[in-house]
Amino acid sequence: KRVAILVSGGGSNMVKLVESMTGDHPARAVLVGSNDHGAGGLKRAEEMGVPTFAVDHRPFGKDRAAFEAELIRHLDAARPDILCLAGFMRILTPTFINHYAGRMLNIHPSLLPKYKGLHTHARALEAGDSEAGCTVHEVTAELDDGPILGQARVPVVPDDTPETLAARVLAEEHKLYPAMLRKFAEAL
Ligand code: GRF
Repeated sequence: KRVAILVSGGGSNMVKLVESMTGDHPARAVLVGSNDHGAGGLKRAEEMGVPTFAVDHRPFGKDRAAFEAELIRHLDAARPDILCLAGFMRILTPTFINHYAGRMLNIHPSLLPKYKGLHTHARALEAGDSEAGCTVHEVTAELDDGPILGQARVPVVPDDTPETLAARVLAEEHKLYPAMLRKFAEAL
């Protein structure tokens, strides 16, 4: 199976996904893309020998369709069977999501359905939650809402800040996402 990954930032989840696709794993990373030419994940992908592309979303302004058409042009040139969003921070329209329907995953840093959207750790702390975590789910048109493949939980500790909680959750993301991608690729 051919896997493409979209990032917007450092791409730590992408690195773990790429590193996991070796040996008898049924998938291989074929492309890493970003909406930001300066995304650290692009350099990390190139260091691992994975082809990359970037399409800056800003020149497209509010024309999401044109931006997404350009993303699809780059992505489909690599013939991906699976598309993974990994710290990709642009909202995608139903047109884009339908194009990859049933083969598009995302990792979200909360125990969905709690805390869809942004600032998940601050919201969990604000709510006084005793635990937090992350979710790998299939991407559907509804933001952070598709079928859940798996979750990982971490304790919230008394002097947690959004940063300390984020770091604890990120360590779990780095284990959960590769495990869920492998299961998904084996079943596809
Ligand atoms: C992580 O919190 C992840 O849950 C979210 O984006 C953040 C950065 O991820 N999706 P990465 O280091 O760029 O993979």
